[in-house]
Amino acid sequence: MKRLIIDTDTASDDAVALLLALRHPATRVEAITVVAGNVPLAQAVTNALVTVDVAETYQPPVYIGASGPLAGDLRTAESVHGANGMGNIPLPDPSGKPAEGDAPEAIVAAARAAPGELTLVTLGPLTNVALALDLEPTLGTLLKEVYVMGGTSDHLGNITPSAEFNIWVDPVAARRVFHAGFRLTMVGWDISRKYAVIDDPTAERLRALGTRRARFAMDINRSLRQFCRDYTHIDGIDMPDPITVAVVIEPEMLTRSVERYVDVETEGEITRGATIVDYLGVLRREPNARVCLETDAERFLTLVFDLLGN
Ligand code: BDR
Ligand code: CA
Repeated sequence: MKRLIIDTDTASDDAVALLLALRHPATRVEAITVVAGNVPLAQAVTNALVTVDVAETYQPPVYIGASGPLAGDLRTAESVHGANGMGNIPLPDPSGKPAEGDAPEAIVAAARAAPGELTLVTLGPLTNVALALDLEPTLGTLLKEVYVMGGTSDHLGNITPSAEFNIWVDPVAARRVFHAGFRLTMVGWDISRKYAVIDDPTAERLRALGTRRARFAMDINRSLRQFCRDYTHIDGIDMPDPITVAVVIEPEMLTRSVERYVDVETEGEITRGATIVDYLGVLRREPNARVCLETDAERFLTLVFDLLGN
């Protein structure tokens, strides 16, 4: 059984990622920790709780975390995911409530309670993880691995020409996390754009599965579909958070990667929030990340159909 903590700024593709993890038979989500990002914190918490209900499996504790980045103001992405982050569909009231305690403390407590056993998967800005590092600087030795949905391996951004949203929202936190000594895998936005797109006919086939979770997964991504049409010019919806979870729960999904030194631009006038991958090794620094370069597109869709259809 793979045991996960999932840190998320829950909006539409985060929710699909949560559904995959919660439905996967060999995966146990030990905790969900929520951070502000795509939407303000309270909305992200509601979205996480609703998604747990839609998964219809079990109810991991959902912890409330940081309401904004370590430095500067929060910038959200309602234009991408809708005003409620969930494609503007009306959401039912969640059956559960957030757990007592805050997210960074919960990450540290879980890691201390099961040293070397938990994998942390981050699907939002890295604020909660940076705060957890303040509480426990040796978090890297306590966690088995960390998978970060963030940055880009090809240096093409989605929020600026060179920055990906999660890193751009809190580059200071991201920089700390990349330098914290984690066994870290970076799944950049490029991976979703190239290998994890659900096009319209595939979305219709998913709906036709007839399960509530498959319909929900497609409905909440309506705003993202429009954004992809208008801005990122993707023929469907790209699924950065779901492909990240998919790589964690089915490691064979990852077909090409390299170990490299990665740094984060925290202040650049034009490139703030960019992840800089030293492919040529010109800095002569030890690698601090495994950078995903390619995943199995067909296998991803098979996993989505299996987990949302059954
Ligand atoms: C990331 O930003 C959000 O829009 C998605 O949920 C994903 O985590 C992609 O840049
Ligand atoms: Ca996200």
